[in-house]
Amino acid sequence: MPANSLQIDSTHASKSTRTAARSHLSVITCVIVTAFAAVLPHAGCDAPAPAAVDINIAAELKSLRDLIPDQAHIMADVGYHFTNLWFAGDAENWPLADFYLSETKSHLRWAVRAKPIRKDNAGRDIKLVAILEAFENSQLGQLKKTIDGKDKLEFITAYKASLTTCYACHKASDKPYLRPQIPKKADAGVINFDPKADWPL
Ligand code: HEC
Repeated sequence: MPANSLQIDSTHASKSTRTAARSHLSVITCVIVTAFAAVLPHAGCDAPAPAAVDINIAAELKSLRDLIPDQAHIMADVGYHFTNLWFAGDAENWPLADFYLSETKSHLRWAVRAKPIRKDNAGRDIKLVAILEAFENSQLGQLKKTIDGKDKLEFITAYKASLTTCYACHKASDKPYLRPQIPKKADAGVINFDPKADWPL
């Protein structure tokens, strides 16, 4: 049984023992009652024992936890949003740029929640939350200002400066080979980046 399930079970150990004892009693009662009065309805006898329910919940929790995407997966989404942000800014489609910047931020927060601490190349703990907070208060905040001010030149400067921090965190996390660059084409091929585009198509 996985360690997590053990933890959950041990927290409720005394309760489970009591409920298990109670459920044994009720199973015995069921057997006696049905043996002597075959005509009686069996309602209640088929219900799962509470201890079994506890184990099921622990197993369910584990399988749900296994479904949560890992940090690399969430970071790939960050890469997607941040790539599109470049093209939205380039096309001066500011509402779209604003959208991609906030998606970038929310996915960065999610990525850090998924794995808040990593090791650097010397095996020391690196607190990703602290790096992200500093990032939000500097270049990402600056990017937001350039989008609100619809300033393309400043946007380009702030975007390039942000890539430096993306990379700084990768290096700190002992992944120096993950080098972000100015993207060459947008990832969202299905989205029209032209702010003056007509609809439909
Ligand atoms: C707070 C730290 C941190 C910041 C800031 C950060 N990253 Fe990451 N990023 C990581 C870590 C850690 C990984 C590796 C995750 C893993 O291997 O499980 C990663 C991986 C990636 C990957 C590879 C995903 C894959 O599996 O292909 C991309 C792309 C990426 N980051 C893009 C970015 C971009 C773009 C930015 C800046 C907007 C950024 N990251 C900012 C920590 C960070």
